[in-house]
Amino acid sequence: MTTKKTQNSPVFNPSESFVAQANLQGIQTAQTFCDTALRQSDSFWAELAKVIKFHKAPNKILDWNPPKASWFTGAELNVSENCLDKHLPTLAKKTALIWEGEPKNNQEAVVRNVSYQELYEMTCQISNALKSFGVKKGDRVLLYMPMVPETIASMQACARIGAIHTVVFAGFSAQSIADRLHDSEAKCIITADGTYRKGKFLQLKSVVDEALEKGSNKVENVLVFQRDPKQPCFLKDGRDHSWGLVMEQEKSCPPVIVDSEHPLFILYTSGTTGKPKGLFHTQAGYLLWAHWTTRWLFDVKAEDVYWCSADCGWITGHTYITYGPLSNGITQLIYEGAPTHPNKDRFWEMIDRHQVNIFYTSPTAIRMFMGFGDDLPAKHSLKSLRLLGTVGEPINPEAWLWFHKNIGHKNCPIVDTYWQTETGGVIISPIPGATPTKPGSATQPLPGIDIDIVDIETGKSLGTNKKGALIIKKPWPAMARGIWGDPARFEKTYWKTSPQLDGVYLTGDMASIDDDGYVWIEGRMDDVLNVSGHRIGTAEIESALITHPAIFQAAAVGVPDEIKGQALVVFIEINEDAHKKIERGEMSVEDIKNQARDTVGTEIGSFAKPREIRVAKALPKTRSGKIMRRLLRELALSGEIKGDTTTLEDFSTDSLKED
Ligand code: WT7
Repeated sequence: MTTKKTQNSPVFNPSESFVAQANLQGIQTAQTFCDTALRQSDSFWAELAKVIKFHKAPNKILDWNPPKASWFTGAELNVSENCLDKHLPTLAKKTALIWEGEPKNNQEAVVRNVSYQELYEMTCQISNALKSFGVKKGDRVLLYMPMVPETIASMQACARIGAIHTVVFAGFSAQSIADRLHDSEAKCIITADGTYRKGKFLQLKSVVDEALEKGSNKVENVLVFQRDPKQPCFLKDGRDHSWGLVMEQEKSCPPVIVDSEHPLFILYTSGTTGKPKGLFHTQAGYLLWAHWTTRWLFDVKAEDVYWCSADCGWITGHTYITYGPLSNGITQLIYEGAPTHPNKDRFWEMIDRHQVNIFYTSPTAIRMFMGFGDDLPAKHSLKSLRLLGTVGEPINPEAWLWFHKNIGHKNCPIVDTYWQTETGGVIISPIPGATPTKPGSATQPLPGIDIDIVDIETGKSLGTNKKGALIIKKPWPAMARGIWGDPARFEKTYWKTSPQLDGVYLTGDMASIDDDGYVWIEGRMDDVLNVSGHRIGTAEIESALITHPAIFQAAAVGVPDEIKGQALVVFIEINEDAHKKIERGEMSVEDIKNQARDTVGTEIGSFAKPREIRVAKALPKTRSGKIMRRLLRELALSGEIKGDTTTLEDFSTDSLKED
């Protein structure tokens, strides 16, 4: 992957016709917004917050006592009322969600339209079902769901009654669910029998059942949506409830009005060490950011069909499916399955079928499509598109240009949106009717985002054209408010990483800023990998591996991958017992590798399975016993060691030195 990024790269200006119709027009306006947001921040945010229906107005815009932020202090509201009820007087019949299932029926797409009225009613019914279980304000509800309208309604239902949802991506294993149940102390689960993916029916409920068998949890009730009534689904008496319970509920439910800083959701993400962190977000600040960034960046209009191909299990699906688009009252497409099923042009076919105007996806997906060739998109019109977006990882200029030409037909601005689970919404991105774009750069910070590039040791600003740590100097409305149950970890990981960086937010990404003030994100600076836009901590992979009885030492490193951005290569040391078994021919190195791969699958989830596993006699370590990942990374990249024919490799520091 050649990703030469320079400030001399071609510049793409938004077309006059795009600017003329844009929600935020021209670089001047954008600049004024940014200036005002930093200089008169209180009045700026107060003005934007007028879109929110408050039951009690805030008495202060920001209370900042690092790392504790309170935005719109004292205000009271309900987020679901702001996403649904708000639209009913005028938009009740408007389609909120167009859902397309993966399997087709005699080659015909299976499509379900859900209007704002119907989504509201579904949400209220789920709220009432949750209430019938005794779920109250502040209680946690874990979701393990496919991409169906019921998932979005379930998130909204939690918000409606002040419960806190924690969505677990349906690719995670039973063990991952069990860990999240334990950490969040959720008392209820909403799940489904299963979902269709690549032509197969994938069981979800059975994974939940398995999770509930593992260790202690506080789950009293499990609500099960039946994706396919023809599939058998086990329901445990007294604990599990079919969706019939939802259908019998009243179609209205008064929103529970909560404080602006009441948690809205917890979302777990990987960190450098130990277990996943449950980042939590709160109400008004998050909603405001979701609402306005959806308007500014995706330029949404009343008549648009918007499609974000993310899953609700990730932050993108929270902010740019469940909250931002609904708060704006637009129509969006959601899709259940794989982009390659039954054909590799399924996405392009869907864009034409539903006349999608705005399409937001990941660089990994774009690189995959690019690999399939230009012919596939060329078979489709794609004329409805007027704006494209990417998220999750740096996009290489080649992929950007391919997307621009083959999907956007050179007519669509591309917004490369940089953000994180922690930031709650996009923080660096072009504004499509204002910012000229350079392929590969996320361009400039959004209003209110005060960034710098610093030397990680000294904390000093590096100025332009130097690679350093990307930091944010001021709090912003959508920032995560904490790590669930671990305020000290929150402070240490983000806001007080060193005495030099006390009170500023460390993103964990490396970046540089060019002479035009354009930001180039260079990737993570910590032991966190980004595989297909999914964050995976090397420590998580390693602790999963050493649960295998034969493995006593493991190191995971990331190597560049043409499609996924990064791929995992894992080095393991196996114990004496395993060595003996291999000598006696009772098992092979290959067996251990396969089991190790499966272990990652069961401990974390299939999406985290390593590309390559290597068995080492000894991992290279420093004198203090720290594994030298840098050497391992070099080794993984050098290509010296060929294929799987090697049995035991000696990676001791000495042998590495000789290389
Ligand atoms: C990490 C956050 C935010 C939703 C998806 C991922 C990387 C994200 C970009 C981009 C370069 C990007 C960063 C970031 N990242 N967007 N446009 N350009 N890098 O959320 O799992 O919280 O991961 O994704 O490394 O820190 P996440």
